[in-house]
Amino acid sequence: MITIAAMNADNYREAAQIAAECFSQPWSEKTFCEELSNSNAHTYVAYENGEAAGFLSAWEVCGAVDVNNIAVREKFRRRGIARALIGEMLGELGAVQSITLEVRKSNTAAIALYEGFGFEKAGERRGFYSKPTEDAIIMTKVLNGDS
Ligand SMILES: CC(C)(COP(=O)(O)OP(=O)(O)OC[C@H]1O[C@@H](n2cnc3c(N)ncnc32)[C@H](O)[C@@H]1OP(=O)(O)O)[C@@H](O)C(=O)NCCC(=O)NCCS
Repeated sequence: MITIAAMNADNYREAAQIAAECFSQPWSEKTFCEELSNSNAHTYVAYENGEAAGFLSAWEVCGAVDVNNIAVREKFRRRGIARALIGEMLGELGAVQSITLEVRKSNTAAIALYEGFGFEKAGERRGFYSKPTEDAIIMTKVLNGDS
């Protein structure tokens, strides 16, 4: 069973551990801890049968949301956990006009995930990523602001 919890003082280390497993330049445990006092942050940890499986971090500022990161541990992938995390975020947002994110051009899994939620390509950032260097695709989902 998949459950989603807001990130808190008891589980932020689990989110940092997942980031370390999934990214070449992960946020540190300290950065995750600092997010706990960021009033603009929406950060969630997903569990499958009680085991930490994924996280999502986004910031909501003046009706615009940026998704910073989403990751699911390899052994838990393709079971709907990322979809559940994005669904949780969408349900928790205030009156938001748009959601924006960057994704590596080669990351077909994440691009398919975002397209499934109605995100569309809005541009590119040349050489945005390092380790390895790669362009980013900017994807945006426009909302009606009433959510
Ligand atoms: C991208 C990522 C978060 C997806 O997590 P997940 O829990 O496996 O995704 P879900 O099971 O919720 O998949 C939802 C949909 O996304 C798409 N998708 C997910 N993984 C996919 C893959 N490997 N290939 C193609 N489509 C994929 C599919 O449309 C899928 O729906 P379906 O399974 O019904 O076909 C995960 O692969 C991951 O953590 N990757 C490494 C970190 C990363 O790249 N994060 C994104 C940074 S922008």
